[in-house]
Parts: sequence; C-alpha cells; structure tokens
Amino acid sequence: MKSVVVTGANRGIGLELVKQLLDSGYRVYATYRSEKGGLEDITNQNLSLHKMDVRDSAGIEELSNSIEGKIDLLVNNAGVADGRWQSISEIDMQHALEVIEINSIAPVLITQKLLNQMSDDSTIVMMSSLMGSISDCMSGRSYAYRASKTALNMFSIAMKNELQQSGISILILHPGWVATDMGGPNATVSPEQSVSGMIERIDEHNLSMSGRYVQYDGTPIEW
Ligand SMILES: NC(=O)c1ccc[n+]([C@@H]2O[C@H](COP(=O)([O-])OP(=O)(O)OC[C@H]3O[C@@H](n4cnc5c(N)ncnc54)[C@H](OP(=O)(O)O)[C@@H]3O)[C@@H](O)[C@H]2O)c1
Repeated sequence: MKSVVVTGANRGIGLELVKQLLDSGYRVYATYRSEKGGLEDITNQNLSLHKMDVRDSAGIEELSNSIEGKIDLLVNNAGVADGRWQSISEIDMQHALEVIEINSIAPVLITQKLLNQMSDDSTIVMMSSLMGSISDCMSGRSYAYRASKTALNMFSIAMKNELQQSGISILILHPGWVATDMGGPNATVSPEQSVSGMIERIDEHNLSMSGRYVQYDGTPIEW
C-alpha cells in the first residue's frame, strides 16, 4: 500500500485530498495545526492524524518517527493568504514574513525532514498557485502571497535538480481558483473537481516530468 503525507488537511483542499487519496487506496498521514475539523468525520483504518504546525521542526520529526516504511507521496498543501494589500504602503512586514515562512520555507523544512524516508519513485507535490507566476502578474496586490509562491517554485526547481539522481520527482501544482475558505464563495472550481484533477496529474507523473508547473486540469503554467 502506498503512503502519503498531506499537510493542512483539516479543511479545504487538504481535506478533500485526504478523502480522495483514501478512496484511491493510500495509507494517509494527515496533519492539522490545531483543530481536526473535517478529519473528525472520517472513519478509516488507513488514516492517521498528526497535530503539527508546518513551521515546527520538532513536530515534523515526531511525524517522521510515526511513519513506517517509505513515503511515496508528500503533499505540501498547507498555506495562508496575506492581507491582499493593494499598495506598497499597506504591506505589513511582520505578516509578510509569516506568509513567506508558512508558504515557502515550511514546505522545504518538511521535505528536508522527511527526505530520508523517500526514494525511487517518490513524488513531492508543492501546492503553488497561478499567483506565483511572474508572467501572469498583471495586477500587483497580494504582495507577500505572490512572492511566497514564486519562492516556493524556485525552491522546488532547485530541489528537482538535486533529487533527480535519487529518483524523487517534484510536481508543482496550481489547484485552480477553488471554493474554500481561502478561495471564497465566488471561486469557479469545487474542491472535488480540483482534487480529482490533481490526483490525475499525480498518477500520470514520473521522473522525466519532474519540475513541471501545471494547473489541476493539466494546463501548463508560464513561470
Ligand atoms: N483556494 C484556492 O483558490 C487556491 C488557489 C491557489 C493555491 N491555493 C493553495 O492551496 C493550498 C490549500 O488552500 P485552501 O484553499 O485549501 O486553503 P484553506 O481552506 O485556507 O486551508 C488552509 C490549510 O492550511 C493550514 N495551515 C495554514 N497555516 C498552517 C500552519 N502554520 N501549520 C499547519 N497548517 C497550516 C490550515 O490550517 P488551520 O485550519 O489550522 O488554519 C488549513 O488546513 C494553499 O497552499 C493555497 O495557497 C489555493
């Protein structure tokens, strides 16, 4: 049975990933920061829950110790929006640093701590965003969120080059504009639709595709 770690799994895209990956036959290690949320309603012997802030090294090490055998798939999903600042003068630097720590640094920290449990054919999914695309940035705003996802993309590509020899691949995904707490009610894609598309991308993925940056439906995204 394949094993997967999903961060930020108590609501939104993470929760839907847990449901669909369980249905696909994975052993799922799901992490949540404080509230178990929708994870409490799932009864499945292949699901383990772990309380963990993605910035906390000790918590990640506890998770690592609880995982038996190989990690086939790591989904770095947890993320936060910023203040959607419209102007440079409005940027709250402390908040900006927090967004960058959660969205860019934490996925690297988690990868670092779990890497020795991954090997040939393991895949690391980085939940990026279209908003990390420099060529798509026509409007400005959301300064820290955009920058955090662009930084995540570059961390991912640099990692891809190093991990190629170990047979570990990287998949950088944009889930679409998804109706979650972050995406809001006007979003055009349901969590079910986004996640089933992303699982198709994961299933078709292989080492020769490592480092691709695609939307949930497979549409490539310009850097
Ligand atoms: N929704 C969209 O339209 C959209 C578009 C592009 C990209 N994305 C990306 O997709 C991912 C999931 O987004 P979503 O829409 O599902 O967002 P969401 O509904 O706001 O859920 C965010 C998840 O991340 C967790 N999280 C945040 N900070 C954390 C921390 N420090 N430690 C542990 N967990 C933390 C949250 O936990 P708590 O419940 O404890 O806060 C929650 O489980 C994010 O990386 C986001 O940037 C979303």
